[in-house]
Amino acid sequence: MVLFVVISFVLLFLLFCTLLDDLYLIKFKRLPPGPLSLPIIGGLHLLGREPYKSVQNMAAKYGGILSLRLGMQERFVYVVDPELAKQLLSSEYLADRPRLPFFDVLSKEGHGIGSRPYDFTWKLHTRIIYSSISKLIQTQLDNILQNSEEHLFKILEGKKGEPILPETEIRTAVLMTMGRFIFGHEYASADDPKLQLILWLNEETMKGLQPVNLINLIPGLQYISLPFYPNYRNLKKAKERFLNDEFESHKRNFDGHALDIMDMIIKELEEDEHDSMKFRQKQRKEFLLPQNFLMSIFTLIVGGEQTLSSNLLWLLLYTAKHQDCQEKILRELRNNDIVPTDFVQFHNKQKFPYTTAFYKETMRFVSTSYFGIPRTASADIHVNGFTIPKGTTVFPNFWSINHNEKYWSQPHEFQPERFLELKNLHSPNIPGFIIYGYGRRPCIGSQIARACLFSFLCNTVNKFHVSLPPDEEPDMRGHTQLVIEPPKFKLIFQKRS
Ligand code: HEM
Repeated sequence: MVLFVVISFVLLFLLFCTLLDDLYLIKFKRLPPGPLSLPIIGGLHLLGREPYKSVQNMAAKYGGILSLRLGMQERFVYVVDPELAKQLLSSEYLADRPRLPFFDVLSKEGHGIGSRPYDFTWKLHTRIIYSSISKLIQTQLDNILQNSEEHLFKILEGKKGEPILPETEIRTAVLMTMGRFIFGHEYASADDPKLQLILWLNEETMKGLQPVNLINLIPGLQYISLPFYPNYRNLKKAKERFLNDEFESHKRNFDGHALDIMDMIIKELEEDEHDSMKFRQKQRKEFLLPQNFLMSIFTLIVGGEQTLSSNLLWLLLYTAKHQDCQEKILRELRNNDIVPTDFVQFHNKQKFPYTTAFYKETMRFVSTSYFGIPRTASADIHVNGFTIPKGTTVFPNFWSINHNEKYWSQPHEFQPERFLELKNLHSPNIPGFIIYGYGRRPCIGSQIARACLFSFLCNTVNKFHVSLPPDEEPDMRGHTQLVIEPPKFKLIFQKRS
């Protein structure tokens, strides 16, 4: 009885403090409004299984910009209004990323472009990596895609029309593509030790990135060796050894012809060296520290694998589910005289408007990166009569924007044809369609992602009829994690003749 009274008293006291803090922030500090918090859990219970829909529903009451406390942390700001989201994401004061303790564990010496502040080094890394990716796309793209896809198709053919869970095959094909783009690796098979190492590094890093990972909640755990809990020291060492070995062997073998992103960067660095006035010396030195810029390269794998694999799996699922759409994609291929033994190159995408419309509608409809990657205010931002204080974490709701009736009629219907009505189908800037982020630091891999998605879809349908086994009924809501993951599902790949 005494215990019950004590607990009730503590909870009431916490409730009083939390409400007081909410009212202080909303009424006096002019933070955007939002639901009041409960002690300990804040507003976590309001997010549910599909947080992007819950936040959209809250916007009906609180407006296009609102705030909500998650657990015992600060109140986060959510932006649902498309114009406001664009305005904020373009602000130089909303271009930092929040600090995640796991990144300090993984890379004390320097964060990669995905997690470091919007500083000189970020701009330098981003400029060099972006221009490397663009050049590589012009020279190597279809070659790289064809290699990984042929490898995938051989495996699918070997299944002889038996239902399979496609996840492992797709993730391996994506990592093969990324490994080839970044390090120039040619993998003999899925068991190739180099591929297995990247797979392991990526999987362990993804586990560490989960916000509910204990190390993000109790950063001190990294210093303690517990038998039941990893402290990630082995991961850090393995990552550094792998990246340093790659860097050294690329430097040793570089003959002036860049074949992958690592080569491109070495070339850029050599060219920059002759132009010593170009950058401020101190920051240039910082960039040149291998452990610092190699982390930016590692970020490409971590930022790219999961997003790309999930989107490809969703694409396959929608292709199998919407047989009428698959027929239209096939007709478009055959009308262009493509036969199953051909490989469709990405630079011919203009000839395939329906295929492009289908994959864009799938991306819009699912919106896997529903809240993007959060940004943090580096100064107080005043917007629409509210203040977003320095240090506040802001989430744009891309799912809401992609389902906004201002841009899309019947946004909750799956209709690839809607994209055919647009004049700028192939443009990366379609109003009301935000997949790769916006403003100051959008996705650096978007060119690679667009090419992969189009190419894998087009060439898979060219070679295989894709269908769900008769008893397969996947839950089309998927699982909301860092991105919306597709459900587990089986597919049948029937080779076309
Ligand atoms: C369909 C696939 C992909 C989707 C949906 C996607 C989406 C996103 C989004 C929404 C952001 C946040 C942008 C912002 O804050 O405005 C982002 C950032 C990022 N993406 Fe992607 N991405 C994809 C593929 C890739 C690929 C293939 C790579 C690597 C080659 C990549 C590397 C990154 C990196 C490094 C960042 C962090 C950029 C920074 O903070 O400066 N992404 N991506």
